[in-house]
Amino acid sequence: MKKKLKFALFALNSESGIAMTTSRKRWSAKTDEIKEVAKFCDKYFDYIFSVQRWLGFGGKTDPAGLTYESSNFISALSLITKKIKLIVTMHTSIIHPTHAARIMSTIDQFSNGRSLLNVVCGWNEKEFKMFNANYQPNSNAFKQGEEWIKIFKGILSKKKISFSGKFFRVKNAQSKPVLYKNRNPQIISAAFSPTGRIFAIKNCDILVTMFSDIAALKHQVQIVKRQAKNNKKKFQVFALCHIVCKKTDNEAIKYYDEYSRKNADKIAIQNFSNIIAKNPKNKILKSIQKKNMQKMAGGIGSYPIIGSPKKVIDELNKINNSGVDGVVVSFLNFKDEVKFFTQKVLSVINK
Ligand SMILES: Cc1cc2nc3c(=O)[nH]c(=O)nc-3n(C[C@H](O)[C@H](O)[C@H](O)COP(=O)(O)O)c2cc1C
Repeated sequence: MKKKLKFALFALNSESGIAMTTSRKRWSAKTDEIKEVAKFCDKYFDYIFSVQRWLGFGGKTDPAGLTYESSNFISALSLITKKIKLIVTMHTSIIHPTHAARIMSTIDQFSNGRSLLNVVCGWNEKEFKMFNANYQPNSNAFKQGEEWIKIFKGILSKKKISFSGKFFRVKNAQSKPVLYKNRNPQIISAAFSPTGRIFAIKNCDILVTMFSDIAALKHQVQIVKRQAKNNKKKFQVFALCHIVCKKTDNEAIKYYDEYSRKNADKIAIQNFSNIIAKNPKNKILKSIQKKNMQKMAGGIGSYPIIGSPKKVIDELNKINNSGVDGVVVSFLNFKDEVKFFTQKVLSVINK
């Protein structure tokens, strides 16, 4: 491999992870198992990427219905890990930026500077209704997100911030502490729509993207990195995948087939697709997800990497060669599968 590919473990704090399946093997997000996986990953992975979900996707199993609140979850992990970076997810219409700055600085101090923030500007309208939050149409949601980030970054740059915009008005907003050793916050976005991408490149440091095949990923990375360069920005792109790694290709395919085809939670998948379909600008994402029920069941439509260690390493090499900086990966059952993957794939790649 040319450069080191970074690895982020995704959705450990959510029941079913990102799978939508009735399989008994699905992740049940028991606190003891989460702690065990997090401590293990501390030595081998680069990031733990937590999601923020307030509702599950219904169906027979209600995937993500049980989700530990992202900032509290990461705060807990920061005390039982030493090295791994930790990603909190927040919705800009639910958490006020002044509160967010205080949450992130607290976590950053206790983790010695290991926190990152994934911002979500708008997504699941039903969740927003739980908070009486204003659900904005796509472009407004990102305008609101931009004001949010201005205040958030301003506070963390040790200033007193007064700001009057279309969505926020704050007077003398500040936080003590700021981030560990006064460092700047690192912000992630997983926006997919054209407006979302412009927002991400302008205001964030890392974009996480979905993709249908390696050629499409390469194309996306080229466009995004070119735009970032035009904005004179150091910018990273990560790719979202779900992985089944077993001793042989056949064993992996069988395992994948059992949970993502025979036992797909079809109603949950339909509900999830309906949330995506609400954003008419998100055509590419919609087509990725529509095309393949199995990919939806396997990991909300993300790219499947299924096979023996050799096959998985080959695929990850191809992804690395597409120009991405890292991968965000998920497994059906983190506890059962992450150790084998680490021994047979991560330790080989990282040699
Ligand atoms: C890797 C990844 C992580 C995400 N995490 C969350 C999350 O925790 N909570 C949430 O509501 N949305 C989450 N999303 C949704 C995105 O942030 C974004 O809102 C969605 O892809 C729609 O983008 P768009 O509004 O630009 O079309 C995530 C998406 C991806 C690909």
